[in-house]
Amino acid sequence: KPGGLEFEVADLSLAAWGRREIELAEHEMPGLMAMRERYGASRPLAGARITGSLHMTVQTAVLIETLVALGAEVRWASCNIFSTQDHAAAAVVVGPNGTPEEPAGVPVFAWKGETIEEYWRCTERALRWPGGQGPTSILDDGGDATLLVHQGVAAEKAGSVPPPETASSEDEAEVRRLLARSLVEDPQYWTTLANGIRGVTEETTTGVHRLYELARSGELLFPAINVNDSVTKSKFDNTYGCRHSLIDGINRATDVLIGGKLAVVCGYGDVGKGCAESLRGQGARVVVTEIDPICALQAVMDGFEVATLDDVVERADIVVTATGNRDVVTVDHMARMKHLAIVGNIGHFDNEIDMAGLAKVPGIRKEEVKPQVHTWTFPDGHAVVVLSEGRLLNLGNATGHPSFVMSCSFTNQTMAQLELFQRPEHYEVGVHVLPKHLDEEVARLHLPALGARLTRLTPEQAAYIGVPVEGPYKPDHYRY
Ligand code: NAI
Repeated sequence: KPGGLEFEVADLSLAAWGRREIELAEHEMPGLMAMRERYGASRPLAGARITGSLHMTVQTAVLIETLVALGAEVRWASCNIFSTQDHAAAAVVVGPNGTPEEPAGVPVFAWKGETIEEYWRCTERALRWPGGQGPTSILDDGGDATLLVHQGVAAEKAGSVPPPETASSEDEAEVRRLLARSLVEDPQYWTTLANGIRGVTEETTTGVHRLYELARSGELLFPAINVNDSVTKSKFDNTYGCRHSLIDGINRATDVLIGGKLAVVCGYGDVGKGCAESLRGQGARVVVTEIDPICALQAVMDGFEVATLDDVVERADIVVTATGNRDVVTVDHMARMKHLAIVGNIGHFDNEIDMAGLAKVPGIRKEEVKPQVHTWTFPDGHAVVVLSEGRLLNLGNATGHPSFVMSCSFTNQTMAQLELFQRPEHYEVGVHVLPKHLDEEVARLHLPALGARLTRLTPEQAAYIGVPVEGPYKPDHYRY
């Protein structure tokens, strides 16, 4: 309503349920709660306008409310059409002190099951602040908000947008439609918006990959902090988070007994390592595929068979992609799979499995078992079960990573946002990682909750190994 809070979510009446889950999550997120305690009074983010594009879950709600507690104004969209938890979105909009009738929280534009068109509209709304303003920083996951700004600026430089009909994906076509409209409305809109952005903090491997490409080609418009490569992010969230949420997604989607099955994990990076361990923990026989000899050798040393997907595809019961790459599971693979083999992706985008190709198989039949679970029956009568239409299954079929591990990731995010806002002069245009003392600090904040006690170096020991008693304890080239 006029003058009221802007938002677009599924159902505000879910807010009370969302609030109770947020309160439980807060207990499991000691890093974020420590940030509130440390900075709640001084409010160092006062004046910051943060646009977030990151899965709108219960854990993200705790992040959003932490940024608000530190003084920031926040607007939010999800970074995936299936990942929003509608009760969390409702609770954030209503806020701790509002009611569904008088919401008093944060503008959120996200619901579970958006169309691609709605997805990009939500991303745009999160970037468009009232009064024609833009954000002072972006908090991104996968880089879609950053991409929209960069493509907007490129379109304004060129004075035109290529036709949506020639786009290589539905997403690209939608972005082009959106930018064509904005070019007519205000031909300088994105350029002005980009000029006000101090930087972006990026959550995930795929988004970071996009940022380094922009930096390499000289197109990056503002500084970026690569949160993913904080050790306390990628070696925790990507690995232990997926170790938890991969099988959660498979179980909620199919409830198939994982023990005894032949499961293939494509990619043995940080995510793949967690996935393989998770499936082995359930008693699956796990085969890993890799292109990188180092990761392949790690997989063998960890006790997994390493093969190509072509070698094992006929025997596989479950195939999970965790590569961040495209075309890893092809239509030909799915045509050769067993009847009702389960196919799912846990990487960021939906092109790891050739879903577009699958839809084009002559005579193929797609049937919904329930939302985000579909059988695709080939003309020969065999079917594959595809989870979340090829989008990341742990957030589409389950609720993503649990709070504790997200506390590590989001404490890094909060620190990165503080760095960009408080010390912009330290970050020139380019991609940066947080200094190691902050990475160690994130870990330190999470130890007491688990009952862990650190050993303290004596000054003699510190001198002997050449590190300060207070850290940092490892050189930058150390790999953990
Ligand atoms: P990573 O770079 O550590 O691992 C990816 C691995 O896949 C690499 O070892 C690479 O050699 C391998 N690979 C690449 N192409 C391959 C192919 N064709 N066949 C077999 N292996 C191949 O990246 P990380 O951190 O493991 O992330 C993987 C993906 O998961 C990214 O898209 C990332 O954004 C996403 N991610 C998803 C999360 C979730 O909750 N669903 C959480 C964290 C990351």
